[in-house]
Amino acid sequence: MLELTNINSTFNLNNGVKIPCVGYGTFRTPADVAEKAVKEAIATGYRHIDTAAVYGNEEAVGKGIKDSGIDRQDLFVTSKLWNTNRGYEETKKAFQETLDRLQMSYLDLYLIHWPANQKQFGDEAAKINAETWRAMEDLYNEGKIRAIGLSNFMPHHIVELMKTAKVAPAVDQIEVHPGWPHTEEIKYLQAHNILVEAWAPLGGQGAEVMSNPTLLQIADKYQKTAAQICLRWILQQGVLPLPKSVHKERMVSNQQIFDFELTDEEMRKISLLPNLGGQCADPDEVDF
Ligand SMILES: NC(=O)c1ccc[n+]([C@@H]2O[C@H](COP(=O)([O-])OP(=O)(O)OC[C@H]3O[C@@H](n4cnc5c(N)ncnc54)[C@H](OP(=O)(O)O)[C@@H]3O)[C@@H](O)[C@H]2O)c1
Repeated sequence: MLELTNINSTFNLNNGVKIPCVGYGTFRTPADVAEKAVKEAIATGYRHIDTAAVYGNEEAVGKGIKDSGIDRQDLFVTSKLWNTNRGYEETKKAFQETLDRLQMSYLDLYLIHWPANQKQFGDEAAKINAETWRAMEDLYNEGKIRAIGLSNFMPHHIVELMKTAKVAPAVDQIEVHPGWPHTEEIKYLQAHNILVEAWAPLGGQGAEVMSNPTLLQIADKYQKTAAQICLRWILQQGVLPLPKSVHKERMVSNQQIFDFELTDEEMRKISLLPNLGGQCADPDEVDF
C-alpha cells in the first residue's frame, strides 16, 4: 500500500502485468463528450482508461486516446464484452469489433461485463460463462489481450468458472463504494489473487454518498472532499478505483488521494455505513 504514491503507481496482476492503481471511468459519458473528456483525462495524468462496448463510446474513447499524444504502450486500456455477445464465437467477434472501434491492435484488459445468471439462463448459465471464458483465454493466448478478467462475478460464479478455466481471471470489477462495501467478496477475491476494481467508487450518479455526514466529517479532518475519502478508502483496501468525471477539476482532485492515510477506525467506520444508494445490483437478479 505505502509504495503507491500517485495514480500511476502500479498493482501487479496475477500474470505479472502491471496496472496503474487508479483508472478513469467512462460510463454515461456520451460519445460526443468522450473524445474530449478522455483526452483531457490523459492530459491531467490518467494512463488507465476503462470503457465497455455497451457504453457506446469506444470509438470516441479511441479517438481521445489517439489525440492525447501519449504512446499506446504507455496507456492501459480496458473494455468489456456485453451480455448479448456471450458464447465462444460471439465473444471473439465482439472483441474484434471493440478493437476496431477503439482503433487498436490489442487491449490491456478485457472483461466479461456480467455473468450469465440462472434467473435468465437456468442450468445453461454456467456453460455460457465457460464458453465465453474459453474465447477470452484463446484471445489472451493469441497475444491480443495482456490480461483477461471478469466483472460483476460473485465468488460462487468464480468457483463455477474455475471448474473449466485454464487461465485464472486477473481482475474482477465490482461495485464498491461506501454503503455497498462488498467486504466479504473483496476478501475472497484477494485471497485468490484476483485484483478487485471498484466501479461506481463515488456511488455513481445520484447516490447520497458524497453528502454523507460521516464522510464529510472525515473529509474535514484531512482537508479533503468526500470523493477523495471514498477513493482513499478503496485504495487502502488494495482495491483499484475507477472514478468517472467529465469535469477537469474533478479529474484532478480525484487523483489527490496519496498525501494522507485513513486510520483503521476510519476505515472500519466507512465500511460499516448503511446503504447510501448507488446501483447496488445483484448479478443473480439482473435481467439484462
Ligand atoms: N463493470 C460494470 O458493470 C460497471 C458499472 C458501472 C460503472 N463502471 C465503470 O466504473 C466507472 C465509475 O463508475 P460510475 O461512472 O458509475 O460512477 P462514479 O465514478 O462513482 O461517479 C460518477 C459520478 O460522480 C460525479 N463525480 C465525479 N467526481 C466527482 C467529485 N470529485 N465530486 C463530486 N462528484 C463527482 C460525476 O459527475 P461529472 O462527470 O459530471 O463530474 C458522475 O456523476 C464507470 O465510469 C465505468 O468505467 C463499470
